[in-house]
Amino acid sequence: MAKVLVTGGAGFIGSALVHRFVELGDQVRVVDDFSTGFRRNLEDVLDRVELLEGDLAEMSTAEAAVRDVELVLHQAAIPSVQRSVEDPVASNRANVTATLNLLVAARAAHIRRFVYASSSSAYGDSEVLPKVETMPENPISPYALTKLTGEKYCVVFHRIYGLPTVCLRYFNVFGPRQNPHSPYSAVISRFANLALDGQSPTIDGDGEQSRDFTFIENVVNANLLACHADGVQGMFFNIGTGERHTLNDLVRLLGNIVGHELKPVHRESRTGDVRHSLADIGKARRLLGYEPKVKFEEGLRRTVAWFQGNR
Ligand code: UD1
Repeated sequence: MAKVLVTGGAGFIGSALVHRFVELGDQVRVVDDFSTGFRRNLEDVLDRVELLEGDLAEMSTAEAAVRDVELVLHQAAIPSVQRSVEDPVASNRANVTATLNLLVAARAAHIRRFVYASSSSAYGDSEVLPKVETMPENPISPYALTKLTGEKYCVVFHRIYGLPTVCLRYFNVFGPRQNPHSPYSAVISRFANLALDGQSPTIDGDGEQSRDFTFIENVVNANLLACHADGVQGMFFNIGTGERHTLNDLVRLLGNIVGHELKPVHRESRTGDVRHSLADIGKARRLLGYEPKVKFEEGLRRTVAWFQGNR
């Protein structure tokens, strides 16, 4: 039984990790400021987790969070490219300052492993596909820059202090409990709910932009592997599926799943948007033993079914 800290544990990815660790019988502490997370994401496990409400950009919260912990899964962040374009200072505070505080506190607490939620956005808009970890980074939004800065801090903390960090560059994660109701919601949660309501999705641009959409269960598995794999400290890994789908594909598939054709409307493309994204997952396969077990369509079906049952 390990003592695990999940930062952002009330959020979409964090709460999925919390559920898995609770199932495994580990002792779980959650720290969350509930800025984008929800207590309801943890309601069925609240009696089995320790919940710390606070802001990791305050050093005292970071110190309290890591006390007596062995594994740190750092998911807390302000997600959304768009939000970071509107308020880069808030994104920097949540994504960079908080990460630095947590690293400093984790070092003092002698934790066993620090797994950081990095982002595919680090690759930016380079034409080359798939994205391989050896490619130069090219962040094109404040969000991408903040997540990459957090990652670089993890790598440097391993290099200079020997802190056992591992960074996972997530590729467009989707699944149950992802919030569909924010103006900054990720595209699948939003479109799935509109489809269930019989409403039209709005596509930014022509809909031919593509993503390596990754089902949450694959990401949870990757985190568990990153907690225990040998010889991977100080490294970063792509976590995706190695397949990509356009938004137009997504809309068609969702239509098939809900049983009626969706008629999207189009608006202008987003500032700071990446055109195509696709992961090379060879490094994660080789060194972590990662395999994306749930394919896109299966993940999409499960996501729609979950939203249907939890409205
Ligand atoms: C980016 C990152 C992702 C990160 C996420 C955090 C890349 C390739 N991906 O996701 O790793 O986790 O930020 O927020 O950098 N869209 C619509 N209509 C909508 C909503 C979205 O057309 O109603 C479009 C967007 O313009 C975009 C695509 O769908 O082209 C995906 O958007 P979104 O789900 O917000 O994620 P990314 O910005 O790709």
